[in-house]
Amino acid sequence: MQAIVCVDQQWGIGKNNGLLFHLPSDLEYFKRITLGKTIVMGGNTLLSLPKSKPLPGRTNIVLSDLFTRDDCTVCPNLESLFQELKNIPSKDIFIVGGAMFYKTMIDYCDYAFITKVKTICKDATVFFPNLDNMPNWELVEENELIEENGFSFQYTIYKNNNAKVFHIGDEKC
Ligand SMILES: NC(=O)c1ccc[n+]([C@@H]2O[C@H](COP(=O)([O-])OP(=O)(O)OC[C@H]3O[C@@H](n4cnc5c(N)ncnc54)[C@H](OP(=O)(O)O)[C@@H]3O)[C@@H](O)[C@H]2O)c1
Repeated sequence: MQAIVCVDQQWGIGKNNGLLFHLPSDLEYFKRITLGKTIVMGGNTLLSLPKSKPLPGRTNIVLSDLFTRDDCTVCPNLESLFQELKNIPSKDIFIVGGAMFYKTMIDYCDYAFITKVKTICKDATVFFPNLDNMPNWELVEENELIEENGFSFQYTIYKNNNAKVFHIGDEKC
């Protein structure tokens, strides 16, 4: 599975349950990569989406024990989430946030699509794990800088050379 995220130079990803930047090209990039796939998120991230609705054109799965919904799959715990994910090809699963959920899932991801914005957002309150400090993770792709809305950013890809396999009971998935 993969993670996809937009970070500042200190791996900040959000504030006040919202994003740090409005970068239309990055939103398009996110859409292009995730359309037709399964996106998986924590409860706060679902609530942070426009009108708190699942994203169209994708299977949305949410980890939360605070609510149930009929417009997407909500798993109340990690075990039921892993049950849900085990039938989906790993290459089609995208972890899309937020901070707590990235932290929970990052060790299971094979790749991370990181949009790096070349600024430090001093008011960021939530962060992505710093992959440069994690020995398993290697930067494998770094694209050219793009300028938009006064920000300079680039698309990068990191690879996990020792991704964990999740277990349900004794079963490896
Ligand atoms: N920059 C980006 O690309 C990006 C992408 C996505 C989100 N974000 C930002 O990230 C922020 C939201 O992140 P967040 O950390 O507050 O929330 P979150 O990770 O979206 O959701 C946290 C909730 O998910 C559930 N959860 C996560 N890990 C769990 C675990 N190990 N076991 C059980 N439940 C677990 C819990 O749900 P319940 O408490 O409901 O049970 C928890 O309260 C927002 O600011 C959002 O804009 C940024």
